[in-house]
Amino acid sequence: MSNVSILGAGTWGCALAIVLSGKGHNVTIWTKIENEAKALNENRKNMKNLPGAELPDKITVTLDLEAACKDKDILVMAVASPYIRSTAHLASPYVKEGQIIVNVSKGIEDGTLYTLSEVLKEEIPQADIAVLSGPSHAEEVSRGVPTTIVVGATTKETAHFIQDVFMTDVFRVYTSPDIIGIELGGSLKNVIALAAGTVDGLGYGDNTKAALMTRGMAEISRLGMIMGGKMETFAGLSGFGDLFVTCTSKHSRNWNAGYLMGQGKTMEEAMKQVNQVVEGVNSAKAALALARRNNVEMPIVEQINKVLFENKTAKDALNDLLNRDKRKEYKTLEWD
Ligand SMILES: NC(=O)c1ccc[n+]([C@@H]2O[C@H](COP(=O)([O-])OP(=O)(O)OC[C@H]3O[C@@H](n4cnc5c(N)ncnc54)[C@H](O)[C@@H]3O)[C@@H](O)[C@H]2O)c1
Repeated sequence: MSNVSILGAGTWGCALAIVLSGKGHNVTIWTKIENEAKALNENRKNMKNLPGAELPDKITVTLDLEAACKDKDILVMAVASPYIRSTAHLASPYVKEGQIIVNVSKGIEDGTLYTLSEVLKEEIPQADIAVLSGPSHAEEVSRGVPTTIVVGATTKETAHFIQDVFMTDVFRVYTSPDIIGIELGGSLKNVIALAAGTVDGLGYGDNTKAALMTRGMAEISRLGMIMGGKMETFAGLSGFGDLFVTCTSKHSRNWNAGYLMGQGKTMEEAMKQVNQVVEGVNSAKAALALARRNNVEMPIVEQINKVLFENKTAKDALNDLLNRDKRKEYKTLEWD
């Protein structure tokens, strides 16, 4: 059995702790937030987002970062993406050489436009950074709903080790060498989920949402491949898999925020109502900047940015998307 610490005591951190502890691993959860630790220690429940789920008593919840990082086989980074750098910076002095760190947070850093594994590599250069991502709502994972996910790592050995530690008979873990593809798929889909929620909020149909999802993935894979990701990854669990679940599930905060905007709420009102970090908003800005830096056309990303930050109405944004110049579906496909 392995010793695993999860940094971040939110919905996903707690759900993964339940999976790992259920498998017999020794699990510690660290949080910086005193009230969060207190509530978890007192109730053994994450009342807000995992109704019905209970943290087994053998899981330790701590505010002591040094103890959380000591003698661990795996550290899991599960804080919300805006806090990955600050958390990694705090943890770095306690992290040993070659420490496996599995990032499960999704996003792109504001300003630097780094993926989160790049942020971790910069803050904790001595660590062996991996990612775990896929269609995996915490609410379902904590209830043992069958789920599949993919781990990306720099070596086959690390990938297989993480696969062995996390995999159960209802939590199936695949392996991949494509870390950047997995990360980009996992973070950029949140932008498309905002757009998908918006068209649902406007009251359009399934055709419209399918169009946004498919053309959204065309944009993600176009950018992702230029940045080094592989097409197979974008067609896989952390690509289409995660896009599908995020655009169609009531658990998705990005979809929910988009839905509220489609119904006429401003971005600020939607964020307030969803009452959690809506990572798609930051990722939308980052995706647009990455598109410009890499000279990639991303019309849905452009329009969702206008809705989010320039007060464009969702209806006008959709009309502008529909009325662009005529195109081929894929530039790469040619007649003989
Ligand atoms: N919830 C899911 O179903 C799910 C599934 C897969 C991946 N993820 C990803 O996991 C990450 C966490 O999501 P979540 O749903 O657990 O979010 P959450 O809002 O429930 O929890 C985020 C946690 O971040 C930590 N945090 C907040 N502010 C902090 C600060 N200033 N410094 C350090 N830590 C701080 C806290 O422990 C907080 O509980 C996100 O990037 C999300 O995209 C979530």
